Amino acid sequence: MKDANLQLVTIESRKTSQIRFHLNGEELDVSFAPYKTLLEVLREDLNLTGTKHGCELGECGACAVLVDGKAVLSCLVLALECGGKNVLTVEGLGADGKLHPLQDAFADLGAAQCGYCTPGILVTAKALLDHTPSPNRDQIREALSGNLCRCTGYLQIFEAVEAAILKIAEPRQSETAEQAAK
Ligand code: FES
Ligand code: FES
Repeated sequence: MKDANLQLVTIESRKTSQIRFHLNGEELDVSFAPYKTLLEVLREDLNLTGTKHGCELGECGACAVLVDGKAVLSCLVLALECGGKNVLTVEGLGADGKLHPLQDAFADLGAAQCGYCTPGILVTAKALLDHTPSPNRDQIREALSGNLCRCTGYLQIFEAVEAAILKIAEPRQSETAEQAAK
């Protein structure tokens, strides 16, 4: 017990860096050891374990998150670089207790198999659809080319992104129709 307490004190005393940033829509201060990557701070200091730890070499895409709307590999970004930025992880994708249309489509179409790669793919696909609302198959393939799926279920993944495009467009179309009817 004494050893565990000592270990905790040692870990806490290494937290000499601090940033304030927006994480999944909330402003937040976090303290951490200065050498830590964004991935490590998310998982170890903030207990957000949705973002996965894969190769740590920038090769697998499992650690992808959005920083200021752009997909980045959080294993290659120092947390210290994220002060004042907007970070979105898979935990922040849904809103008002509902899944994001991408999450819905992935569940409907079996696009998440073991699911290890899924959080990185979901946020990368969100970045794509935010900037290009109706991408074609080649654009989806290109956007997700840095996200490796060891289960090799790429076809379902591409189809799920295409299904999400329709799910996102439907409410927009009915809003436009409602406004036109007023
Ligand atoms: S863990 Fe970051 S790219 Fe693999
Ligand atoms: S679903 Fe298993 S690695 Fe992609």
